Amino acid sequence: MRKWILLLLLAGATPLLAQKYTGLALTPPLGWNSWNKFGCDVSESLIRSAADAMVSSGMQAAGYRYIVIDDCWHGKRDADGFIQPDPVRFPSGMKALTDYIHSKGLKFGIYSDAGWKTCGGRPGSRGHEYQDALQYARWGVDYLKYDWCYSDDLNAKGAYTTMREALAAAGRPIVLSLCEWGSNKPWEWARDVGHLWRTTGDITAIFDGIEDHGSWKSLGVMQILDLQEGLRTYAGPDHWNDPDMLEVGNGMTAAEDRAHFTMWCMLAAPLMAGNDLSAMTPETRAILTNVEAISVNQDSLGIQGFRELAADSLQIWFKPLVRDEWAVCFLNRSKLAKPVTYAWKGHRISDELSGRSADFGTSIWTLRDLWAHKEIGSTKKDFVTVIPAHDVRLLRLSPQKK
Ligand code: GLA
Repeated sequence: MRKWILLLLLAGATPLLAQKYTGLALTPPLGWNSWNKFGCDVSESLIRSAADAMVSSGMQAAGYRYIVIDDCWHGKRDADGFIQPDPVRFPSGMKALTDYIHSKGLKFGIYSDAGWKTCGGRPGSRGHEYQDALQYARWGVDYLKYDWCYSDDLNAKGAYTTMREALAAAGRPIVLSLCEWGSNKPWEWARDVGHLWRTTGDITAIFDGIEDHGSWKSLGVMQILDLQEGLRTYAGPDHWNDPDMLEVGNGMTAAEDRAHFTMWCMLAAPLMAGNDLSAMTPETRAILTNVEAISVNQDSLGIQGFRELAADSLQIWFKPLVRDEWAVCFLNRSKLAKPVTYAWKGHRISDELSGRSADFGTSIWTLRDLWAHKEIGSTKKDFVTVIPAHDVRLLRLSPQKK
């Protein structure tokens, strides 16, 4: 009897873990983040003008919601240990900035780190997790990107779960974006911890190549794409693979930007623009606001696309969509234009993960070109085209009524 009482007491003493806030990212988050273009050079005027431009550029109308300040917004902790923004760069304080962003119908994201310091050397959340979560909730934060620098001996699942718990205790629904670069295979354990997790190291505005910074390397778009291999089974509504933020508008050619954006749509990746929204070329804006491409990304099934064919720098990717539709992307990775002939009739596509298949030998599908914004016939005829260097063709296939 006594043994039973003791066991019951022990069970009662086991802390019950909270759950992540569910339903905050049923489709991949769409937004903007300061890091890729501005690095540590952030301020309240920069963030306000990014919010203004998100509205005036048509990005908000295209579905973008989050304005996220990345590293280096931090000042010091106050006497009670609560983090404060840099008083010179954010003179009006964070609450005023959040209110401004909310007044535009947008959501506000912030950045911290599980370790002692952020990657930019600012105060990290280690030892202050609950206090930081509370402060973000007070400010009205909607999204937290949580980095992994100076994490020393921390256990990744444990550290990110602590922040999930802290956010739950703070009582405000906040999207949790894990940024531990795929080092500890977050896809295997983060489904119930956060809403998205980085799968790789940092991206850079190079289409195909690696940039060596000495102690670390940043990766080009194709390098990151290749590292997504094998990960699609882990992603879905409310738990996404994050191949890092967009470099559209940061120096690649328009074709490369289009290919980068399209592949992130095919991957059901979070779409976080990383350029200067207030000084975009019309070309960049057209890419970021292509609602037909975005609808592939935001498809409510939330199934990450897959590579069906790779031959001689040409890849063909498929993504199952609602209503028996498919997105199909032809990607030319080479530096030369590539003639392509795709004889639909000889192909049967079958996706074990989603249980979806398409037999082009027996059924006919109409084709819509999502960059040209027009119908281009059907699968009755071979698809014959020339794809420019580092470019794509993106099609939406709809089953033809019999
Ligand atoms: C890491 C992250 C980047 C960015 C920087 C900020 O490198 O992976 O996305 O947040 O830190 O210092």
